[in-house]
Amino acid sequence: MREDYSRIDVRPVTGALGAEIRDIDLAEALDNETFSEVYDAFLDHLVLFFRDQKLTPDQHKDFARRFGDLHVHPLTEGLPGHPEIVEVIKEPDEHHNWGDGWHTDLPFLDKPPMSSVLYAREVPAFSGDTHFANTYLAYDMLSDVMKERLDGLKCVFKWGVANYSRFEGMTAIEDAGEFVATHPIVRTHPVTERKALYLHRKNSNAIEGMSERESAAILEFLYDHAQNPDFACRFHWQANSIAMWDNRCTQHRVSADYYYAERGFEPSRRRLQRVTMEGDRPF
Ligand code: OGA
Ligand code: MN
Repeated sequence: MREDYSRIDVRPVTGALGAEIRDIDLAEALDNETFSEVYDAFLDHLVLFFRDQKLTPDQHKDFARRFGDLHVHPLTEGLPGHPEIVEVIKEPDEHHNWGDGWHTDLPFLDKPPMSSVLYAREVPAFSGDTHFANTYLAYDMLSDVMKERLDGLKCVFKWGVANYSRFEGMTAIEDAGEFVATHPIVRTHPVTERKALYLHRKNSNAIEGMSERESAAILEFLYDHAQNPDFACRFHWQANSIAMWDNRCTQHRVSADYYYAERGFEPSRRRLQRVTMEGDRPF
């Protein structure tokens, strides 16, 4: 773990993961020294948070592009003139949010994204925090016997296998269409070479070669295990906050705690903009 930062101020958020980076303006082109400190912090802390950033769409993309080629979302249209920028919007009267169940992004692609830089434009005064969890740690905290059992197992990930309803739990809804990929349940980070669990409750079909019941027993155990709050951190958004996560060794979920009517509060809108970077085929 790097500690000798000279260009940026790195403040860890929880013992599990996350760091807030201060003394940086992402609107400026980062010099190589500063970029390399941000990159090291990203690998060490898995999710980075920045406050009070003022970025144009081009500056947002330029920052993300320092880490890798930009990804275009296969299912969601981007902003006019900026196909790489996707908006995550929850209207005041909505109770759901994109990403309201623990997941990694787009595991049903052959090459799921490496990372996303999510930039808050309009935020509620409260509610809609995002949780991130360290899936290296979730893997490390399994017994050696379980680690051996998982070695070599692969999961079939399909888009739209299930939808999560706040009241009804998981329900099967949509056809996976062409978005199907098979990846290891334990993946190796291509840079750090550490092993991490690779999970997506909504988009997982089954473990390859197992019966449905066998597969469900193992996957349900892993989802439950990996969502231990001791593996996680929680981020409260302000306007102009940024969260940037390593999609190869974390999972995340938004807290869809939009109980405005129930608690007598004014409903409000939440709007964030996301730029995503290309990843490699998990191994
Ligand atoms: C995402 C996502 C959660 C949020 O952009 O991939 O899951 O907090 N967003 O909006
Ligand atoms: Mn997501």
